[in-house]
Amino acid sequence: MSHVLAAVAWPYANGPRHIGHVSGFGVPSDVFSRYMRMAGHDVLMISGTDEHGTPIQVQADSEGLKPRELADRYNRVIVEDLHGLGLSYDLFTRTTTGNHYRVVQELFETLHRNGYIVAKTTLGAISPSTGRTLPDRYIEGTCPICGYDAARGDQCDNCGNQLDPVQLLDPRSKINGETPNFVETEHFFLDLPAFAQALGKWLDTRDGWRPNVLRFSRNLLDDLQPRAITRDLEWGVPIPLDGWRERGDKRIYVWFDAVIGYLSASIEWARRSGDPDAWRRWWIADTDGEEARGYYFMGKDNIVFHSVIWPSLLLGYSGEGDHGGEPGRLGRLNLPTEVVSSEFLTMEGRKFSSSRQVVIYVRDFLARYDADALRYFIAVAGPESQDTDFTWAEFRRRNNDELVNDWGNLVNRSISMAAKNFGEIPPVDPAGLTAADEALLATSRAAFGTVGALIERHRQKQAIGEAMRVVAEANRYLSDQAPWKLKGEADKPRMGTVLHVALQVVADANTLLTPFLPHSAQKIHELLGGTGVHAPMPRIVEVDDLDAGPAYPILTGDYRDGARWESTAVEVGRPLAAPKPVFRKLDESIVDEELARLSA
Ligand code: MF3
Ligand code: ZN
Repeated sequence: MSHVLAAVAWPYANGPRHIGHVSGFGVPSDVFSRYMRMAGHDVLMISGTDEHGTPIQVQADSEGLKPRELADRYNRVIVEDLHGLGLSYDLFTRTTTGNHYRVVQELFETLHRNGYIVAKTTLGAISPSTGRTLPDRYIEGTCPICGYDAARGDQCDNCGNQLDPVQLLDPRSKINGETPNFVETEHFFLDLPAFAQALGKWLDTRDGWRPNVLRFSRNLLDDLQPRAITRDLEWGVPIPLDGWRERGDKRIYVWFDAVIGYLSASIEWARRSGDPDAWRRWWIADTDGEEARGYYFMGKDNIVFHSVIWPSLLLGYSGEGDHGGEPGRLGRLNLPTEVVSSEFLTMEGRKFSSSRQVVIYVRDFLARYDADALRYFIAVAGPESQDTDFTWAEFRRRNNDELVNDWGNLVNRSISMAAKNFGEIPPVDPAGLTAADEALLATSRAAFGTVGALIERHRQKQAIGEAMRVVAEANRYLSDQAPWKLKGEADKPRMGTVLHVALQVVADANTLLTPFLPHSAQKIHELLGGTGVHAPMPRIVEVDDLDAGPAYPILTGDYRDGARWESTAVEVGRPLAAPKPVFRKLDESIVDEELARLSA
């Protein structure tokens, strides 16, 4: 048993989320967390909405709202979407809580005290027409390195080099084309080079990471520069230093505050649980003599923040960079065990884009299809380790051929045959089991080890493939044994045996599929005559801010009661009724309907 932190990337609260967002890290982190809990680990799964910075400010301006109003609106939408997908967060919160502000400021102050945050004067861009600061990514110009004429202020997409807006030749505002003025402005920088050594040592001890992610992270260490962690912006966490705290025009950079959310959400969860120190079990080595591991789930555009920036903040807070220092009052904090990054999902061959309508939002998806149908597609065909395309034709095919025909049919015919001929789970005939019976039972029992190990190593595609192999073998077994032919009085005991074996394997396969398909797993558990919670679900709760801020909705749940990761013997004599189908077949017409919506 160990303490397992499942730290899931925080979606921006600047719009509804589409299925690309949830397929990279939302669903996979839930599969992992559900499995780890079933296997007996003490899991803390946390995240929230990311509500500060330019992404929120710019969208608020365009919707005519205050940033906080915009964040309130989309925080709620996102909470409802994640709830609809059945994502089992222990706490899904937000970055505008009093608790988060305090923890962010605690880290900032300690890093500053330890010498890892230093002030510098730089040149910042101002829009001549509004007098407001122009964020780096709203400035465009010619790259001084490669000559590309549409380089962004923070980076050139052609040669990949990091840039500063003042370096751009012929800079212009992306908003209205005007030429920005550059004026002197003071900002705080995180001394990343001071962590290069410690980060390198840490990365050298990482194994089992996806090779792309490790290679990419190592390469980042070759060119570490001090990085600005404050912005000229009114919306964000105030800088907790004298002379800065009261200033309305300077705020902490959104990425600095967002990654700290993993820690602040753990603390918020502990405070709400009634044991305010409980978070330490996931963050501080050997709190109660048990191992603590932390897995971070995200899309590949977030790797640098999780394998360089966040570990640097943790090192500096713990006094473990080149400048040494003392740990802050929270203690010496653990670095991530693994950065689990996915690749991108595209939609019918194109990048998801809300502005160009190449999109399907989670809520629209869930209004027309079942959560488990999407979860199944993501598990078997998601962007686990390479960019992947979502097509409606493939979604329908997988749903109909695999989920409905292979799995749904196995469930349906085993239960309905047993219900019709016995009205309950039949016993094994005293004559005993045949070699074929034993072989199938052994296959499904063995799958617990295989599937579990694959999920633990983040090979979810292979894992669900192994679970579906059990389903395929069970279907083959039923065809071979043809219990429907064993109708005569003399054959009936053998029919009972075959159906008993089939129902046992349905129960096992259902447990194996529970992390992937929790909604249908609960239904199938009940069709098999089971009672109680098999696959626990999150709930939305309206809570008061713990530090006198406004109330907000959270996702949370009690996940202790679910099924265990093991084969559980089905109970002879349990009454069975004729089952209703668990999965829905999708008509051919949905493909054209959805494609028409896309191009509308
Ligand atoms: N909001 C960011 C994005 O959507 C992700 C933030 S993850 C966190 O790309 F670590 F910063 F929280
Ligand atoms: Zn360039």
